[in-house]
Amino acid sequence: MNTRNKEWRSSMRLTVDYNYMMKKFIGSDGFKDSELAEMKESAAQAFNYVAEHRGKGMMGWTELPYNQKEIVEDIIATAKEVRRKFKYFVVLGIGGSALGPIAVFNALCHLHYNDLAPSKRRGPKFYVEDNVDPERMKALLDVIEPEKTCFNVITKSGATSETMAQYLIISDILNKVLGEKANENIIATTDHAKGNLIKLAKQHNYKTFYIPDGVGGRFSELCPVGLLPAAVLGLDIKAMLAGAAYMDGVCNKPSIAKNPALACAVLQVMAMNRGKNVGVMMPYADSLKTMSDWYCQLWAESLGKNVTLDGKPCNVGQTPVKSLGVTDQHSQVQLYTEGPFDKVVTFLSVKNYREEFPIPHGCEDIPDVSFLGGHTMNELIAAENKATAYALAKAGRQSYTVWLPEVNEFTLGELMYLFELQTAYAGAMFNIDTFNQPGVEAGKQATFALLGKKGYEAKRAELDSAPAAEDKYIV
Ligand code: PA5
Repeated sequence: MNTRNKEWRSSMRLTVDYNYMMKKFIGSDGFKDSELAEMKESAAQAFNYVAEHRGKGMMGWTELPYNQKEIVEDIIATAKEVRRKFKYFVVLGIGGSALGPIAVFNALCHLHYNDLAPSKRRGPKFYVEDNVDPERMKALLDVIEPEKTCFNVITKSGATSETMAQYLIISDILNKVLGEKANENIIATTDHAKGNLIKLAKQHNYKTFYIPDGVGGRFSELCPVGLLPAAVLGLDIKAMLAGAAYMDGVCNKPSIAKNPALACAVLQVMAMNRGKNVGVMMPYADSLKTMSDWYCQLWAESLGKNVTLDGKPCNVGQTPVKSLGVTDQHSQVQLYTEGPFDKVVTFLSVKNYREEFPIPHGCEDIPDVSFLGGHTMNELIAAENKATAYALAKAGRQSYTVWLPEVNEFTLGELMYLFELQTAYAGAMFNIDTFNQPGVEAGKQATFALLGKKGYEAKRAELDSAPAAEDKYIV
């Protein structure tokens, strides 16, 4: 990867093809050129809003590609040490503190990474524990050796019950097996001042990375939250940041025709305004399968809001759905083609896969099978992607494609930054607070109350006084 070379960078530029959003191609449900032109002003306003607020308030994430030089060196040095000392690396976190590391791991490492021999991996075995299912915790402990494991506890708030429960379990185990040296197996990633993890980190002298101010959970992949796990896996985190910076530059124009993030935001907002309440994210690459999970959180938590910035009720948002090409052609595409006209499909398509796999000739006496011979799996997946987009268009359904020249650190940085900008533009068009999550906080607080956390007595009383379930509604 030659991220400094201008030609190489432009050869890696992501593009967005939205032909199948347009009336000309899909018929009555598509947009007319004139309708797109009518969005010019609101698109420019959203662009200006994001430009004016970048780097401020909860938009600190816009600057991550530029302001982490020293931190990146520390992360790389720490990762080297982790690779030298540990057999396993486990992320303990949830939501924005887990989905980015999972997406990057899945996209850039071998698809059966943990099953590879150590000599074929660039780092330790890798796990992200983003649930509190007791069976899963036991399963993890069945396959790792805690004394040979580095646990990266990630929580911005330092107060999330799931992550702190995991922390309690793991630190108890480490204390038992390692005694005073238990702290050497924990790395904390958290806010520099707020929350409990930072207190614990100081008390136990954990190596600590900070989640910068103005960087919320779902916008945190390009800070130590995502960069440390990626570096431990031996990935080129500088190239990820270079890709993000490149996309930032590409999107530095207030025009739908030139700014791909703005184009995506405008298309989605127009679609939502016409009742397209479901956004399907459908990568045609197994490596991008969990990118959909990361995107779903970003899109759902950022846009699902009930009040505008000036206090008016709004109830906006679009339900993101994950789907995988070609796998889900055989489970969901029937619905997308013939069901309600309430969806927009975003395809993530890859021009050059990192492998080429030929399909051998055979079964010559069965033409329905032998026609496949002599092609490659690459041709087959590309044909199926094209065919699905075409079939949807023929059925009058809207879709657009984000094209990745290939999947690598640079293009992944581009893709994540593009989605973050798209989300910020869409939130600006709806005039909502894109960066809060009161709905998530409400659930967190009810959990605190149910488990008897001090200070949540009133919430507990409120929960206890809620009407009891009636037997007649239980079958
Ligand atoms: O985007 C967000 O802010 C949330 O989804 C958080 O990432 C999630 O709730 C986990 O929070 P924390 O990192 O504080 O543990």
